[in-house]
Amino acid sequence: MHLATMLQNIEPQLARRLFDKAKAYSNVIDLTLGDPDFQTPEHVKAAGIRALEQNKTKYTANAGILELRQAIAEDVKKRLSVEYDPNTEIICTIGAMGALYLASICTLNPGDEMIVLAPHWPNYNNMVKMCHAVPVHVNIYGEENLKNLRQNLLAAITPKTKALILNTPSNPTGQILEWEHLQIIADIAKAHDLTVFSDEVYHTILFEGEHRSIVQIEGMRERTILIESLSKRYSMTGWRVGFAAAPADMINYMVQLNEDVAACVPMFCQYGAIEALRNGDAAAKEMCEGFRKRCRFMTDALNSIPGLRCAQTKGTFYLMVDIRGTGMTSEEFAYALLEQEQVALVPGNAFDACGEGYVRIACTVDVPVLEEAAQRIRRFVANIK
Ligand SMILES: Cc1ncc(COP(=O)(O)O)c(C=O)c1O
Repeated sequence: MHLATMLQNIEPQLARRLFDKAKAYSNVIDLTLGDPDFQTPEHVKAAGIRALEQNKTKYTANAGILELRQAIAEDVKKRLSVEYDPNTEIICTIGAMGALYLASICTLNPGDEMIVLAPHWPNYNNMVKMCHAVPVHVNIYGEENLKNLRQNLLAAITPKTKALILNTPSNPTGQILEWEHLQIIADIAKAHDLTVFSDEVYHTILFEGEHRSIVQIEGMRERTILIESLSKRYSMTGWRVGFAAAPADMINYMVQLNEDVAACVPMFCQYGAIEALRNGDAAAKEMCEGFRKRCRFMTDALNSIPGLRCAQTKGTFYLMVDIRGTGMTSEEFAYALLEQEQVALVPGNAFDACGEGYVRIACTVDVPVLEEAAQRIRRFVANIK
């Protein structure tokens, strides 16, 4: 069998590895993947079922059905006051993953470099590598790194830099890029002719303030691919609906290549997505409140454990826990915790080398289960020799 040499560069996903390993235990508390326990809202499920009953089970346009693209355009305009033409500037994709992959292959040539703000969702690396391009990481975690954002970005740019990917609110840190940070990125993107991938899949899970996007900055709509998803927003991870909005020349090629990758998102899922986008705000808000409660509870619980530290987050349902006080590496901590106490979480180095010394907890279960997890973690840390 011929195997592409690119495969030698592809990294195994540590989060998936821990998730799979957790399956072997009977009494495990699984806090690995970003797949919340909330259910898709009933009215959205009903719309999907109705579509199935009406035989909406066919291929659709590669960009998705027009009514969905119109709903997406309305949603983006309402939230960000930025307009996209549903006919030419929007594509509905197989999750944000589909949008990110299509955007990558439509942007990167072999050998190009893509700046990835880190710690970062691990899939970015492999997506860039699948295009025979090179991810270049810039650490933005914490006040100090954010203060040095401009100089660190400038130091990472080479003549091969084509693009930059940002994710706000961030998986895995729950950190937000404030307006001033977005301005710095925008200045640099304009000065160095970079395309920006703005991954905003967690924008509704925000605990304070209002979500701001880099596309709102003058001159950025032209060079940004806005990437969003219904997965986390409406607890629709398995529906596989995401989208991208960008200038027509980019979307045109993404649509063309979607024919060769997926053809389209399943038709009945697209009908569910229209319902979610048009009538799902209340459900999204309720889920956000639930995540806030969980994150606040778990942050306090973790901070009461000697040797651990956890920063208060501004969004998402992830917590990065500083475990350096235990003297263990991230992987040692994660594997030993799973074996001894059956709590599964993800080592921080899964999100780039700068995540070493941390583990990520996904608050995808309710407070009583988090409470039990915190007790087990406390016992585990107390027993570290
Ligand atoms: C930052 C980020 N972007 C994109 C995705 C993918 O989302 P989707 O389910 O829409 O493909 C995830 C999923 O965890 C994520 O954390």
